[in-house]
Amino acid sequence: MRHLRAQVVGCGAYLPERVVSNEELSHRLDTSDEWIRQRTGICERRIAADDEHTSHLGLQAARAALEAAGFGAGDIDLIIVATSTPDQTFPATATRIQAELGMTRGAAFDVQAVCSGFVYALAVADNFIRAGQSRNVLVIGAETFSRILDWEDRSTCVLFGDGAGALVLAAAEGNGKAEERGVLSTHIYSDGRHNEALYVDGGPGSTRTVGHLRMEGREVFRHAVVRMSQAIDAALDAGGVTPGDIDWLVPHQANIRIIEAMAKRLNLPMDRVVVTVDRHANTSAASIPLALCEASGDGRIQAGDLIMIEAMGGGFTWGSALVRW
Ligand code: ACO
Repeated sequence: MRHLRAQVVGCGAYLPERVVSNEELSHRLDTSDEWIRQRTGICERRIAADDEHTSHLGLQAARAALEAAGFGAGDIDLIIVATSTPDQTFPATATRIQAELGMTRGAAFDVQAVCSGFVYALAVADNFIRAGQSRNVLVIGAETFSRILDWEDRSTCVLFGDGAGALVLAAAEGNGKAEERGVLSTHIYSDGRHNEALYVDGGPGSTRTVGHLRMEGREVFRHAVVRMSQAIDAALDAGGVTPGDIDWLVPHQANIRIIEAMAKRLNLPMDRVVVTVDRHANTSAASIPLALCEASGDGRIQAGDLIMIEAMGGGFTWGSALVRW
């Protein structure tokens, strides 16, 4: 039996120019480079310029991904943007990127699952391709979290940054075996009982304001390791693979201590884990495509490598994906 599979045929990334170091933050907040590095592994983050919106970041990443794939905008059937920081309440940021790319057919929409957003968007894209409803899909994670941070709250504002990453997925026929390139499986979960642990205290339907990010850091940390482990197990089972088969772990980049715990769980040495949290901080839905692009761009990730992706975010939402690059 022939199977349709979503293969990664291009990726692209974009980071705003402005670098904000821990040292710079320590001049306006009661914090220190030492505290931030020790607790999170973060050294610096990028912050978008005032006139740079999420769609601008996503557009740059999308253009780079299309170029890498050798595709034009006219080749794409579907654009999915994972973001919690859309340019406007509506329409979807994906439609703004669609217009800027000059794509006038197909569909474009946003997916909102906070830091798990990219895994969710990948799952949706994979299922559209498997169902034969789309052939070439642009999946983008783009965020300007700097806009929803309370810059007076040292317990949250030091943790996040802005950026965007994109993948082009193309349908390919195969036998459905784990040795073949493409998205092998995706696994998404949520548990809405944990709203209070991580949320934004505003919204158009409640306060009519944008609001600011609020987080119980310890509570999120505790859940993150347990839930992402569960998602990783589901991906290993579905792929019929063992931790020893994984070439690269590409985790959501929230905190180096969470990343190290996940690597330990998979028995992977840290040189098999893609880490960007030191330079990007937590870019929410953008962190995984940014990490994938960096590691494929510098030659660490090679065609045929088996990649485990995992994330957890507000909601709670969490998930994983197993991808043969
Ligand atoms: N600088 C200095 N001190 C600080 C800072 C700061 N930036 N922030 C907090 N502190 C202080 C606290 O006030 C507290 O002081 P106290 O003991 O006098 O009360 C002390 O440091 C310890 O604070 P904790 O919150 O207990 O520190 P912890 O070791 O738990 O680290 C952190 C906090 C880094 C937030 C950690 O809990 C974490 O990474 N959690 C997971 C967060 C995460 O993954 N978020 C992303 C989820 S994805 C999404 O959807 C957005």
